[in-house]
Amino acid sequence: MSTSSARQPLQFAYWVPNVSGGLVISQIEQRTHWGAEYNRQLAKIAEQAGFDYALTQIRFTAGYGAENQHESVTFSQDLLSHTTKLKVIAALLPGPWNPVLAAKQIATISHLYGPRIAVNIVSGWFRGEFKAIGEPWLDHEERYLRSEEFIRCLRGIWREEHFTFAGDFYRFRDYALKPKPLNPLPEIFQGGSSRAARDMAARVSDWYFTNGNTPEGVAKQVADIQTKARQQQHAVKIGLNGFVIARETEAQAQAVLAEIIVKANPDAVKGFQHEVKNAGSASPEGEGNWAASSFDDLVQYNDGFKTNLIGTPQQIAERIMALKHAGVDLLLLAFLHFQEDVAFFGREVIPLVRELERQEEAAAVL
Ligand SMILES: Cc1cc2nc3c(=O)[nH]c(=O)nc-3n(C[C@H](O)[C@H](O)[C@H](O)COP(=O)(O)O)c2cc1C
Repeated sequence: MSTSSARQPLQFAYWVPNVSGGLVISQIEQRTHWGAEYNRQLAKIAEQAGFDYALTQIRFTAGYGAENQHESVTFSQDLLSHTTKLKVIAALLPGPWNPVLAAKQIATISHLYGPRIAVNIVSGWFRGEFKAIGEPWLDHEERYLRSEEFIRCLRGIWREEHFTFAGDFYRFRDYALKPKPLNPLPEIFQGGSSRAARDMAARVSDWYFTNGNTPEGVAKQVADIQTKARQQQHAVKIGLNGFVIARETEAQAQAVLAEIIVKANPDAVKGFQHEVKNAGSASPEGEGNWAASSFDDLVQYNDGFKTNLIGTPQQIAERIMALKHAGVDLLLLAFLHFQEDVAFFGREVIPLVRELERQEEAAAVL
């Protein structure tokens, strides 16, 4: 359990639907749109609703329903320009991005909009995408070695007056980035579940994101990462993915889940399954992000049904507290009808979580 943060209020992030088709691979009606106007409105609703962060996705090609994909850094910048408090996390894929371009882009965005920009360094899972854009497909462990160098370079460029680095993937000599980003420096997120993903988090990331899971499942990952992080005097926080279906009754919420799964597009889910199992089982220990995902789990891109935030606001708030006790610092949430569901979550669920947190705080003081 991350004792340092157990008493901090849990933070909330939402997935920006900057990729078409929403966050489930299903033909169910979704009143979510991937375009600019919908997302600007959503960002305003989310900050009003009490969300701390928005996470943009990076995809370069279609596949499994994601016909259109807006680019993450540009899109993040636009959301910052339409909000005042929300922090926006831009996904960066090493390969298409190199660290100096990323460091410079993000530094400028921090000056334009204040220090509300953060980054999510993704390591890649979609071999077909790499092939389509002419990027070499490194094996699983090499992808993480490159991501770790990428993170070390970003932070070094942002922090040091003159940055020098000699790695296997990147080299810098006395490089002086000016201006530096505003303080506090942009936070660095990274995601996965594999041994390599966890070890990288324990060494260099500010935040570790992982796929949907139960409190028991996530507690195991937290213990593993936090033990190693402490040994290395590194502080890392934990973000967990979840798909929320909050309705007035549990039966209504379960009916929506059943409809999402019944209307899943089987060919697209199977294609996604093939691609991600390929990526996950490529990690030597076989504990990658989707190593144990069933067909139903994969209808949500990041195993979000497993987190079980499906029910009434009260049930969801109680389950959120169990996740917090398991060491989760932030919940990264996806929804079916983003604008209306985010507003409902902010009105009906977040206040219950804050109340439960206050009760725990008071009980701890006694
Ligand atoms: C919360 C989260 C967000 C992610 N966002 C992206 C993304 O935008 N683009 C992408 O190509 N991969 C994304 N990934 C995939 C990861 O970078 C990584 O390739 C994948 O989780 C493989 O993990 P593994 O090493 O555990 O198999 C994301 C993963 C997580 C957990």
